[in-house]
Amino acid sequence: MDRTRIARLYADKEALGGSTLTVAGWVRSTRDMKNFAFVTLNDGSCFKDLQVVLNRDRLGDETYNHIVSQGVGSALVVTGELALTPDRPQPFELQATELAVEGASAPDYPMQKKRATREFLRTQQHLRSRTNLFRAVFRVRSEAAFAIHRFFQERGFVYVNTPIITSSDAEGAGEMFRVTTLDVENPPRTEDGNIDWSQDFFGRPTNLTVSGQLQAENFALAFGDVYTFGPTFRAEDSNTRRHAAEFWMVEPEMAFCDLAGDMDVAEAMLKYVLNYVMSSCADELAFFSKFVDKGLLDRLRHVATSDFARVSYTEAVSILKAAQASGTTFEFPVSWGVDLQTEHERYLTERHFGCPVFVTDYPAAIKAFYMRLNDDGKTVAAADCLVPGIGEIIGGSQREERLDVLEGRMRDLGLDLDQYRYYRDLRRFGGCRHAGFGLGFERLVMYLTGVDNIRDVLPHPRTVGNAEF
Ligand code: 4AD
Ligand code: MG
Repeated sequence: MDRTRIARLYADKEALGGSTLTVAGWVRSTRDMKNFAFVTLNDGSCFKDLQVVLNRDRLGDETYNHIVSQGVGSALVVTGELALTPDRPQPFELQATELAVEGASAPDYPMQKKRATREFLRTQQHLRSRTNLFRAVFRVRSEAAFAIHRFFQERGFVYVNTPIITSSDAEGAGEMFRVTTLDVENPPRTEDGNIDWSQDFFGRPTNLTVSGQLQAENFALAFGDVYTFGPTFRAEDSNTRRHAAEFWMVEPEMAFCDLAGDMDVAEAMLKYVLNYVMSSCADELAFFSKFVDKGLLDRLRHVATSDFARVSYTEAVSILKAAQASGTTFEFPVSWGVDLQTEHERYLTERHFGCPVFVTDYPAAIKAFYMRLNDDGKTVAAADCLVPGIGEIIGGSQREERLDVLEGRMRDLGLDLDQYRYYRDLRRFGGCRHAGFGLGFERLVMYLTGVDNIRDVLPHPRTVGNAEF
């Protein structure tokens, strides 16, 4: 079928005005005024709808009655004349001459015109992308992904696909989903009664990756600048607005780069993506600013043009303690050595700095084994980027390139050195200073849209207790 996308009508309206063309899409609403009817159609090619006008005299009773009786959500193919209407709210309408119902929609279509709650729509994930909100969210998600690739590609980074199934725990935190083909009800046992993983598919225990960082490091020490962008999995039992069991992570890794250089790239990347999405998704962002988060556009514009703050963990703890002393209450304690909670992160970025902030040089004891130990012997060269409304959006670090220091830390943490053979090797053959970070892609989409629950920025979210779709 030779159909014209509605996006093209908006882009080329002057040229297309007066011509006859065919569009295909889904009915969002119908208003029947007896001799005229207005059908609002959306084909997903852009945020805006198309108004289709039905004229009873022109179409005849049979066609007219058949079309106006179609339910919300039905699929129509419409041919008509594009009439420019510069003095009306919408710039044009399609005056239908031929209409066909490609797929009717049953009366129990769950997304009738009245506004459904987001909780309800999570039970309708197969259909919710036909609402304004979710069409806007997933368009932004797509554009943001493209912007990320563009940012890195323009700077000469090589895109590497890191494995999904792996035998190493990149974060050393033990929050992994096991991958096995063993019979879970009756696994083979070794003589001492433990599960015999040597009989499993890979001949060893494996899991879904929590991060592509370790393998990205392998590539960084060959290509210099690389990034991986793929799904990651965490069996964290945290039922919050910002944690998912399956989420996407963007992880650049750069050779001959230190922590300051790492933060520069992270800041430049966030600003690039913000600017890109502000220009490619103007309708969507205007919608979010109106219906989801009133301050969104102003905030994005502000962030795109101002410098991010940088503060050490130690200074951050003093700021939080001073806040407590002058009356702010936190649910969780603030003291040097304890990890920052979301409420602390949000205080820093929203109330104290009023802009995104990098918190650097965390205590070694609360960070992963691969982060470079600072000269003080108790902090590591880590940098988390915190943003208003969300808290941590990026976690990064300079990596420990000194084999003896790395192995010492791994032993202290009780990690099995044999499982990290390749990672240690990398320090033996031309090891170098290097750094990288991980951007939680869903948290970025939340930040760009103002949508405050990670379940509403993932097409089919997997969270504790939820994997229906
Ligand atoms: O801070 P994290 O755990 O860092 C890493 O995984 C490093 N290997 C990254 C690197 O240096 N290459 O995770 C990075 C980011 C977090 O800042 C957060 O935005 C996101 O990933 N993230 C999650 N997003 C959604 N659901 C979860 N359960 C997440 N856990 C982390
Ligand atoms: Mg982190």
